[in-house]
Amino acid sequence: MTGKILTDHRRGFGDFDVVDFVDEQEIAALRAKLDVDVPIDLHWTWEYGSEIEELRNLYERGKRGQWNAETDIDWSQPFPRDEWFMPREGALLMPSLLTVMGADEDTCKQAAFSEFTHLLSQLLHGEQAALQLCGQLTNACPTMDAKFYAGSQVIDEVRHVEVISKFLQRKMGAIHPIDPTLKILLDMLLAAPTWKMKTLGMQTLFEGMAVGIFDTIAKMTSNPLLRDIVRRVQLDESRHAAFGILSMRQVVRESTPEELAEMEDFAFAVLEALNANQQLDMLRLHGPKYGLDPDNVVQSTLAMPEWPVLNSEIYMHTVIPNLKRLNLITERTEDDYRRIGVLYGDRFEAKQELPVAS
Ligand SMILES: [Fe+2]
Ligand SMILES: [Fe+2]
Repeated sequence: MTGKILTDHRRGFGDFDVVDFVDEQEIAALRAKLDVDVPIDLHWTWEYGSEIEELRNLYERGKRGQWNAETDIDWSQPFPRDEWFMPREGALLMPSLLTVMGADEDTCKQAAFSEFTHLLSQLLHGEQAALQLCGQLTNACPTMDAKFYAGSQVIDEVRHVEVISKFLQRKMGAIHPIDPTLKILLDMLLAAPTWKMKTLGMQTLFEGMAVGIFDTIAKMTSNPLLRDIVRRVQLDESRHAAFGILSMRQVVRESTPEELAEMEDFAFAVLEALNANQQLDMLRLHGPKYGLDPDNVVQSTLAMPEWPVLNSEIYMHTVIPNLKRLNLITERTEDDYRRIGVLYGDRFEAKQELPVAS
């Protein structure tokens, strides 16, 4: 069994270990920690020609795929607070639960709005981390192809920060602060010591989660403005995920068995901790407004027979198949992933083909 992180914030819910932050002062201190010490090995290269053709093709695709978050989006489209923008059940946690509990439609709509503002705010903070980490990669990557691509990804991530923050400010009226669990995990990824670990953290874990979440939102939303934004972001993210696969294939080829084992453990530790929060950070902030007790919600979700299937959906979309393809989930860790409800069944093929070829 591999090691756990955030051990000071663990509590047992039956067999399941949750990560839970309850100390307001500690949470405030985490959010106030703006300076992070990150090691960077800056690497020059004198080889300006292309060494990895697929990567250079992807860079060309990236250039062609640029869009303008201010002028290419029709910002005059509404995002009405009193209309459903996601299915009432099966998409967001709070409205689904409240519906089952018999709450009126208005309350369910408000809960959906709160939860989605929260989710999108966390995605926004994640985009900022992607921007910062990708900037690090332009320094640390060894080949000019990778530097070209990482450089073009920086501007994509800037655009994602721009478009999501504008959507939140203009249409939802709030940006929620970063969740403590997410802040710790993002700091960990940003502070990963080598370019190989940075590439794993950024391109496989981050981007894999982003593709899964954005694709799910795009498929489920009925609001044209939100769908347009999320689809555009998701197209960029699938290029990033392709960069992840191409660069990680090389990383895996060049790594020692010890380095690979370290990466496998790192990936598991990050995903395990993320999953262990079970939305408690969100529920602590928003649950009580709608009469939902965070502990009760998590306990009853964990007790549902279909929980492993539902819980693993977002992970099984991209991040788990990609880790498996890269041989970063092996027999050593596979059962651990299954035990925590992140890996289910045998669907190791990514749902969408990565656009690696130009
Ligand atoms: Fe992004
Ligand atoms: Fe990205």
